[in-house]
Amino acid sequence: MNNHVSLRFKAIPENESFARSAIAAFCVPSDPTLETVNDIRTSVSEAVTNSIVHGYGTEKGDVLIDAEIIDDVLTVKVVDHGKGIIDIETVTQDFYTTKAEEERSGLGFTIMRTFMDSLEVESVLGAGTTVIMTKRLSNA
Ligand SMILES: Nc1ncnc2c1ncn2[C@@H]1O[C@H](COP(=O)(O)OP(=O)(O)OP(=O)(O)O)[C@@H](O)[C@H]1O
Ligand SMILES: [Mg+2]
Repeated sequence: MNNHVSLRFKAIPENESFARSAIAAFCVPSDPTLETVNDIRTSVSEAVTNSIVHGYGTEKGDVLIDAEIIDDVLTVKVVDHGKGIIDIETVTQDFYTTKAEEERSGLGFTIMRTFMDSLEVESVLGAGTTVIMTKRLSNA
């Protein structure tokens, strides 16, 4: 089945659960296992939290999510127009965090990379960040 949805919401922590639930619900018609849905839910949650906490911080803005399913493969794109990332290779390493004082562990990208089939990060300093993740929904 082929399908797509787009979401746009205010970058505040209250919307993080809406976003992960919406993308999980979007996948249900493809009949994924509970484990697969949980992996997707967790990964979307990590990407959205990063956009809110690191991308925008105290700035105002929106987070956009485009999700599509083509031939049972989910692609989720999480976009913010926040501060961007200087060095993607460094920040995506395990345990790298710029907010250690807020008890962040630097494992968000590790979780996304582990739970999804692929992870790509694109960013322009001062313009924002896009995280693209894919996951096969069927076991076939
Ligand atoms: N959307 C974003 N915009 C700007 N910087 C980001 C964004 N996402 C991640 N980063 C940077 O990448 C670092 C690593 O992100 P990651 O999610 O792996 O760890 P964390 O958010 O610091 O901690 P955790 O996710 O474990 O709470 C962040 O500390 C931040 O500096
Ligand atoms: Mg994080």
